[in-house]
Amino acid sequence: MSILEVKNFNKSFGDVEVLRGIDFELKKGEVLAIIGPSGGGKTTLLRCINFLERAEEGIMKVKGKVIFDGKNSRMTEAELRQNRLHFGLVFQQFNLFPQYTAVQNIVLAPNLLKKADKKTNKKNALRLLKRVGLADKADNYPCELSGGQQQRVAIARALAMNPDILCFDEPTSSLDPEITGEVLRVIKQLADENTTMIIVTHEMGFAKEVADKVIFIDEGKIVEQGDPKVIFDNPNTDRLKNFLGSMLRA
Ligand SMILES: Nc1ncnc2c1ncn2[C@@H]1O[C@H](COP(=O)(O)OP(=O)(O)OP(=O)(O)O)[C@@H](O)[C@H]1O
Ligand SMILES: [Mg+2]
Repeated sequence: MSILEVKNFNKSFGDVEVLRGIDFELKKGEVLAIIGPSGGGKTTLLRCINFLERAEEGIMKVKGKVIFDGKNSRMTEAELRQNRLHFGLVFQQFNLFPQYTAVQNIVLAPNLLKKADKKTNKKNALRLLKRVGLADKADNYPCELSGGQQQRVAIARALAMNPDILCFDEPTSSLDPEITGEVLRVIKQLADENTTMIIVTHEMGFAKEVADKVIFIDEGKIVEQGDPKVIFDNPNTDRLKNFLGSMLRA
């Protein structure tokens, strides 16, 4: 069974249709890469899935249960909070709280939502920091960390609530090329541990290496989706061919 099913997502901003009939499924342990030109709707799709925007139409199921229905979208605050917990989100800008240390950033949500007692949450946070290679940075503030280190703390923070699906929106695009690798290695390691992930990325080589499935979105529609080998080596449409060509030239 699919862990995530998105059916017929439609979203407009004013007169502009930004998502037009988006359908896809993801199985537990799979990595989905979303690629496509700027303005195509990738971030909007992630934000709709994470309940940061509301699709006007569409259905989303997690583990077979409908958690969003655009036609019947009355949700209490408590339901919304509960539904959001299925997802962890890592943004392009790391968005750590500057006044808290690395470990404090990670325990914030688990403590607030009483995931476990504070001691257990802290133990878990330290374990996650170790997993992203930052065991020695627990007590450092974000301003004392490099961009790549901050992004790894953000990943640990997203993992701390044990989400079913971890979502990334261009996790390396605000990093210098030489530190992109350390973040991609952590994501690759999560993929090897069968973490279910959706990754919006401009890193085509990485998408090809890590993804089980790739979606190419242009003008709010899925133009092609499938196996990375087919998407990258045998694209069917001129739009995808042109896009991949432009990425190679960039
Ligand atoms: N809050 C908003 N209000 C109005 N229009 C918006 C809003 N957010 C996004 N859009 C528009 O929706 C379209 C899709 O934007 P989106 O950010 O989803 O694209 P993207 O594929 O993530 O692009 P990029 O690769 O540049 O990040 C764009 O035309 C954008 O201008
Ligand atoms: Mg975007």
